[in-house]
Amino acid sequence: MATALILLAAGQGTRMNSDLPKVLHPIGNAPLFAHALASGSALEPERTVLVVGHGGDLVATEAAKIDEEIVIARQEEQLGTAHAVLQAKDALAGFEGDAIVLYGDTPFISEDTILRMAEARKSADVVVLGFEAADPARYGRLVMEGDRLTRIVEYKDATEAERAITFCNSGLIAAEASVLFELLDQVGNDNAAGEYYLPDIVEIAWKTGRTATAVACDESETLGVNTRTELARAEAIFQSSKRAEALDNGVTLMAPETVFFSLDTYIGRDTVVEPNVIFGPGVTVESGARLRAFSHFEGCHVSMGATVGPFARLRPGAELANNAHIGNFVEVKNALIGEGTKVNHLTYIGDADIGDGTNIGAGTITCNYDGVFKHRTVVGRNAFIGSNTMLVAPVTVGDEAMTASGSVITTNVEPGALAIGRAKQVNKPMLAVRMFEKLKSLKAKKQKGQ
Ligand code: UD1
Ligand code: CA
Repeated sequence: MATALILLAAGQGTRMNSDLPKVLHPIGNAPLFAHALASGSALEPERTVLVVGHGGDLVATEAAKIDEEIVIARQEEQLGTAHAVLQAKDALAGFEGDAIVLYGDTPFISEDTILRMAEARKSADVVVLGFEAADPARYGRLVMEGDRLTRIVEYKDATEAERAITFCNSGLIAAEASVLFELLDQVGNDNAAGEYYLPDIVEIAWKTGRTATAVACDESETLGVNTRTELARAEAIFQSSKRAEALDNGVTLMAPETVFFSLDTYIGRDTVVEPNVIFGPGVTVESGARLRAFSHFEGCHVSMGATVGPFARLRPGAELANNAHIGNFVEVKNALIGEGTKVNHLTYIGDADIGDGTNIGAGTITCNYDGVFKHRTVVGRNAFIGSNTMLVAPVTVGDEAMTASGSVITTNVEPGALAIGRAKQVNKPMLAVRMFEKLKSLKAKKQKGQ
């Protein structure tokens, strides 16, 4: 059945004590709400509606970066969760299928849990995700009669007997979209908080001849982020689950607890990751690569069998072909490094295309920036760039060409040529010996004079 996601993200998040809307605080270098979206993607949603309020424009901008098709619905006043979901009604006009409501600040709902909710929808009109709470605190309580979920009561409105219930509301609810909005239209705000409660649709469902049930998940999945402390805890949980996932996928992590991932990091099997490696957003690594200690990756791609580091930095647009070697203290940005090409020591390669089988000597710099514009450097195949070459872009060095060490290359080098761009060396016989003598006698005179 077609599915739509409704992601609630209008809350202010006062307890974050921040100018940034809560759902934009990052976990694994992706905004909080992107994690809920990622779980929801298990359902291959046809439409996604993000309900925004506080800082709505900022949230909308970030959402568009993740998926341009996300529809933004605005909740100007936060009148409660039912009111929030109702704001998605226009965006879902004409949509036929199930809608599932997720919270933007609840990042760890598993795909499996969401699929189980979709499955349970076959036998009930409304499906709520519940969990056994170690400390039920102020969560809404699920009132069950066997498999039937008869109603949900908010803590504030609950009797002592109801507060004793430990099966709690996670907030996730699924129903056919048309049914959801039909039920929501009947929700009032005559309760302790004076809010329109989404969970009230359960009781309304039974009153209008429909059915409701609950699916249970582990409490750990329902962890919400309300404070910086919870954000830090959520980051730690995210990192440990990404590490476990990498290990399960056949990646060797020599010291897993020192490796940090982003939500979208992908690493192929039999790749070895040494200690203290950091993956920023947008990194893909193919199989059989070796990522040495203390290296930093962001927006880059590493192909099969390549080696990187130790102490290397791959910045956005760095693309390594198979078996490329990037060594210590090398930075690569917006550059293609050809198959088997070696850039082993103390080098900056930015805005460049380096062909296959080329060797870039120690201390090479692509001078790509003139203070206003960026320019490209092109180096062909099987070329040899001597140590300490400055490649002043825009410049091209042809296939099988060479540059002499210490050259400043400002004009193109044709294929097969040797370019020497440095001052000519002059040797003065015995001058060193005479210089030393002179200096030493000067020093002796000075010391006597004191
Ligand atoms: C809600 C549930 C409660 C459940 C708990 C789980 C209701 C009435 N109560 O309570 O049963 O146990 O979540 O965490 O639904 N939001 C909006 N607009 C609003 C109000 C809320 O977008 O007008 C969003 C918030 O940003 C948040 C989510 O909805 O992502 C939940 O809102 P929150 O105020 O945290 O609900 P709780 O009182 O915790
Ligand atoms: Ca909450």
